[in-house]
Amino acid sequence: MKVKKLNTVQSSLKNKDHPYMKGAWEPFYDEFEVLNLDSIGSIPKDFDGVYLRNTENQIHEPIGRFHPFDGDGLLHSIVFQNGKADYRNKFVRTEGFQIEQKFNSSKWAGLMERPGTSILPGWGAQGCLKDTSSTDVVVHAGKALTTFYQCGDGYNCDPITLDSAGKVSWAPIEGVSAHTKVDLRTGELLFFNYSKQAPYMHYGVVGSDNKLKHYTPIPLPGPRLPHDMAFTENFSILNDLPLFWDSEMLKRGIHATKLHDLPSRFAIIPRYGSADEIKWFEASPTYCLHWNNAYENGDEIILEGYFQENPEPGNYDGAPKGLERMMAFLDNHLLQPKLHRWRFNLATGKTIEERLDDKVLEFGAINQRYACKKHRYTYSMMPTKGWFTFDGICKHDHKTNNDDIYKFGDGIFGSEVCFAPRHNSINEDDGYLISIITNVNEKISACLIFDATNITAGPISTLELPHQVCSGTHATWAQMNEIF
Ligand SMILES: [Fe+2]
Repeated sequence: MKVKKLNTVQSSLKNKDHPYMKGAWEPFYDEFEVLNLDSIGSIPKDFDGVYLRNTENQIHEPIGRFHPFDGDGLLHSIVFQNGKADYRNKFVRTEGFQIEQKFNSSKWAGLMERPGTSILPGWGAQGCLKDTSSTDVVVHAGKALTTFYQCGDGYNCDPITLDSAGKVSWAPIEGVSAHTKVDLRTGELLFFNYSKQAPYMHYGVVGSDNKLKHYTPIPLPGPRLPHDMAFTENFSILNDLPLFWDSEMLKRGIHATKLHDLPSRFAIIPRYGSADEIKWFEASPTYCLHWNNAYENGDEIILEGYFQENPEPGNYDGAPKGLERMMAFLDNHLLQPKLHRWRFNLATGKTIEERLDDKVLEFGAINQRYACKKHRYTYSMMPTKGWFTFDGICKHDHKTNNDDIYKFGDGIFGSEVCFAPRHNSINEDDGYLISIITNVNEKISACLIFDATNITAGPISTLELPHQVCSGTHATWAQMNEIF
């Protein structure tokens, strides 16, 4: 193992006395390159590609109250090839990151503060936020693309070295939300954005040549807070869910979410369609952060995701003063997301809903080779009670309705798993699950590789990382042949 510290970014953060600046969320500032990671258990030679993990890592003393989703994007890549693995981590060189590095201080207030608190004009649907590009990451047109859940510019970098390639050229003025979707069959990227100005949402398609090929307004009744989208072979699925900003509070500049007495609504639009071609469907009210897959079956469009049973929780017991609401919305055991299926019938306009698993689960993954097809397995993360961290993996078999579970252990938290197929694999689960864990007892991190056919047996390889990794949200997997 050859450890090389490439850089340490300038930080002005002094006060880490916040529940989300400690433990698994403690921020770090070093950028490393480690060639040939040491491994307990040999690394399988029958897969190759890159696991990319985006994290939210606060660098400067916050202006006002801190929310963990305010942290700067810090990307981690682990490249697997011929039974060897290399690790690199690098901050996303966003415009905001570069300005704050120059001044060594925060110039933007976060999600918990009124937009007018920021020192400089910013980004995001809420307004005046820093585009941290810290929420999500995918690989498209040979480059990694990082995005911000409140809508930002979208940044490209090299998926191996993480060297910045700047802002994407195709981002519209309204920005790009997190959860862009890559269709591996066509090489296209699908995206949406949302804002406080009519028409409140847009949807677009970027070609495999990284050029915008379709962009259209999606008129909504008012400002909404969609977080994810889904797609099938011919359609994209956008949503208008009843949890969104309280309009009275919004008039006073306060962005407080409220569950409205409205149904959930889903827009099914042909991939290159416009608003007049949307078929709208209604379903029971909920909020859903993430969808796992969607596919067509005759007249039906089938969508799988996580239905929150309690999208507007009460205050979090025992939170520091002023953080009760924030900590409640970060606790999935209060929100109660459950694996769920929506079936939209294009012929009748009716929706059928099915609960698939009664456990609290979120942040799901499938074998992406089964995107737009009926998949058998969903790999979900198991949220920690009380915290925005994950303490286990649950593999749900939709054919047998059986769950396989692996728990990381006390004080050990994992990142969103991704499925990496084995070379020449035939079965859907013939491959590996990859996650980065942070062990807060020993203040270390490692990358775990599981045999996806037998996750209960525990990791087959444990790769030592050079530092503790701060928690965050999303990760992705790309095969070597999807990069080059
Ligand atoms: Fe997300």
